[in-house]
Order: sequence, then structure tokens, then C-alpha cells
Amino acid sequence: MKFKIHVFLFFALLFSACKNEIQTKEAEIVHFNEPFRPQFHFSPPTGWMNDPNGMVFLDGEYHLFYQYYPDSTVWGPMHWGHAISRDLVYWEHLPIALEPDEHGWIFSGSAVIDHNNSSGLGSIENPAMVAIYTYHDPVGEKEQRNDFQTQGIAYSNDKGRTWKKYADNPVLKNPGIRDFRDPKVMWLEEENGKGKWLMSLAVLDKISFYSSPNLLDWSFESDFNPDWAAYGGVWECPDLFPLKTDDGTVKWILFVSINPGGPQGGSATQYFIGDFDGKTFITESLEVKWLDHGADNYAGVTWSNIPESDGRKIFIGWMSNWQYAQVVPTTPWRSAMTIPRKLELVKKGSEYLVASRPVLELEKLRTKSQIANGQELILENALTELELIPDQQDFSITFFNDKNEKVTLEHKDGHLIFDRSQSGNTGFNDDFKNKHMTPVIGTSINKIRIFLDRSSMEIFFNEGEITLTELVFPTEYFSKVKLEGFKLESKIHNLKSIW
Ligand code: FRU
Repeated sequence: MKFKIHVFLFFALLFSACKNEIQTKEAEIVHFNEPFRPQFHFSPPTGWMNDPNGMVFLDGEYHLFYQYYPDSTVWGPMHWGHAISRDLVYWEHLPIALEPDEHGWIFSGSAVIDHNNSSGLGSIENPAMVAIYTYHDPVGEKEQRNDFQTQGIAYSNDKGRTWKKYADNPVLKNPGIRDFRDPKVMWLEEENGKGKWLMSLAVLDKISFYSSPNLLDWSFESDFNPDWAAYGGVWECPDLFPLKTDDGTVKWILFVSINPGGPQGGSATQYFIGDFDGKTFITESLEVKWLDHGADNYAGVTWSNIPESDGRKIFIGWMSNWQYAQVVPTTPWRSAMTIPRKLELVKKGSEYLVASRPVLELEKLRTKSQIANGQELILENALTELELIPDQQDFSITFFNDKNEKVTLEHKDGHLIFDRSQSGNTGFNDDFKNKHMTPVIGTSINKIRIFLDRSSMEIFFNEGEITLTELVFPTEYFSKVKLEGFKLESKIHNLKSIW
């Protein structure tokens, strides 16, 4: 009898173990399927996310770190979350890389591969992945000191899987300026065959450049803050890098995110085109240029260590805006990244601009492509990519669903006008309902590409010369599109989920 009971208990336990395993798998699947959960954009499984950080490529893996607060869906003590991708389309979530320590919370920053082992933190055979980030000391902030943001480093000798903080942090102390953060570091080749590390740092309302032979000792080089730039808010998250046009002209580009003061209110990224001589950045721009004219592309920067054989400058931004990022109607996570974009330097007349184009890898998402004729398109799928060709300059596109929720995009009187005031769930913040106006000067719109996910639209005009990145929260997906002013042949690509 006792034996029988044991056998019974054994099978009962086995059954319940299997059941638990099945339930866990189901939970995992349901998990990335919550209302408004982006299906082909990166988002954290749970918790709060803001800026992308430490983007670096190594041995076939694109690393994406990000500002992360795992214990809540609003901003708090910052960590670096971590994910990798082998193709910029599918993402694998990895454990948190960096946690707050005695120097403070871990704010935004960058990561590089120290190929020459200049820091001594790795070896030539196994170069260290080094993260350079801002320590934000909440105690110093509370005491109303001015030196509570400093720069620290951490390193990994196993492809970003485990991290050690450098023993002598911080490596760059604060000279007494409250906002002193977001180091973006690059290796600068010099003509004598040598080189140095260069850091761009956001310092209140200017960018300061520092250089270092070894990532550990930093010297001030110069400041950049032209009179006419956008100063509506604090400067954050710089990125400095060269870009080449098709005809071989090289220009240096400096990205500077500002919050508030963006063209649609709140957060946005301005950029400058110019030259960098190893010490000083001089811009040839004469007016502010915005990387994106939508409301929801902030703090974006580019990947480091992309192999020369690839040669792309690949960008990703935080797809939100500090105006309402902490109240958008999503749970148990908040925020997503933009789709990865390739940056291109394009000459328009006598001027240059930086275009953003979806990376080609995203074509993998297409499951069915068709050409639709007519002024009303039916979208079979919530996840869609559209390619539209206007045949007149005044045009309009309206996305709508059976619940009378809609988004309109018009081009008239020399402006693009994006209206999401009736797009579904909008009540969480008044600013969210504002119309977004973008002047279109000296160019006609000849091609439009739109990526629709469950809670975002990314619109690329003329191969990314103008982009609008916008969050939308329709309570049912937009299943129809009304077109005015377009050629008949529109391309519709159904896209699949990456989760
Ligand atoms: C930009 C930013 C950075 C800072 C981080 C903190 O969104 O304010 O300047 O490092 O977020 O999370």
C-alpha cells in the first residue's frame, strides 16, 4: 500500500511539474502580447526603459544596453539593461549589465572595444568591452551639491556577459556643474599612425570634448555651443562621428538631444554638420537641424565598432518623449526603441543633411507583399509597412479603425501636419494631442515609407530625408487607410512579430 502511495505521489508530482512548465511557457508567450506591446521594436520585458546606451558590435552581436529601472514602470534608480541581436531585427534579452553602486546610479553612456588594450583591462587577444557612463549620485543631488554627476567605467572580458566596475572610479570628476553627463566615446585615428580616445560630454547647455590615451585619464579639449543652436532645455546624449557622401565628401556630424525645446514640444535631437580637427568641432550649419520631426525619437546615438566591411553608421533612438513617457498606457513595461536606422549624408543643393533609413535587415519581417490600387487600402495586419508615391504635393493619409479612431497625415501649405488627437487612448496627457507641424522647404515629397507597429508609426519621406516618429495608442488596430493625392499603386507589406 505504502509503495502504491509513493508511485501515485511520484506521478502526481511529475504531472504538476510538467503543468507548471507548460504554464510558464504560456506565460512567456502571452507576455509580449499585452495591449500596445510593440511587436517588431525592442522593448524590455517589464519595468521602465529610457535612452539606448553602450551600443557596440562585437563578434557578430549587436549589443544594446539601455537606461533601465527594473522595479517600476516609471523612472528611478538607473541600471543598464542589456540585449543582443545578430541581425538588428530579433533581440535576445540578457541579464542587467550594470547596477547602481556607492558612486551612484548608472546614467547614459557608451561602450567601445579596446583593441589595443590601451586601458590594460583586457588583452590584445581578448580586448575588453569598456562601458563609459555617468554616475549620478542621488545623495549629492539631495544635498544640492553641483558635483554629483561624474564619469565612470566598467569592463567585460566575456563579450558583455559579465561586468566589473573599474576600481578607481570615477575616471572624470565633476568641476562643479550640475549637468555633466552622457559620455559618448570613440577611437580617433591620427595621421601619425597613433590615435586617442575622444569623449563628447553634455555639460548643461554645451558639448565638451575630452581626450584620453587609455580611457582612464581624460584631458579637456574644447567646448561647442554656437549662439544660434536650440537651447530650449538641457543638452543631453551627444554623439560625434564622420559620415561620407556617395561622392566621397566627409563631414563630421554632432548629435545633441535637448529636453525640452524640441520642434513638437518636449524632447528632440538636433544635429550639426561640420568638421572636427581632433580637438575642436566647427559647424558649417547656419540653423538648427532636427534629426526627426516627430515627437518620439530621443537620446538616439550610433553603434561603435561596426566592421569596416559593413561601414554603416547605425542609429537607434528612444521612442518616447519626456513630456509623457512615464504615463503612456502600457504595462508591465514602458517604452520601446525606434527601428534601427542607417544614417546617410545627403547633399541637397549646396547644403548637406543627415537622412535616416530603416536598415535593410528589416525586410526580413515581411510575410506577404502586395500592390493595392484605389484610394482606400485595407490592412490585413496590425503590423504593416506601406510604400506610397504621392502624385501631387497636397496629399493626405488617414489611418482609421471601426471605432472611429484615426490618425491623419497631411501635406499642405508647405507643411507636414500629423494629427493623433483622435488616435485612440490619448487621455493620459494633454500635450500628446497637439498637432505636429513640420515645414517642408525647397523639396517636394516623392516617396513615403511607413512602419506601423501596435503603438507607433515611423514615417520616412524621400528616403529618410525627413522622418516623423510618433507614438499612437489605438484600442483596435488601424485596419483601413484613406489616401488623397496618391498614385494608384501602393505597396503593402504584412510584417511579423519578432517575439
Ligand atoms: C536623457 C537622460 C540622460 C541621462 C538619462 C537618465 O533622456 O536624461 O541625460 O543620462 O536620461 O536616465
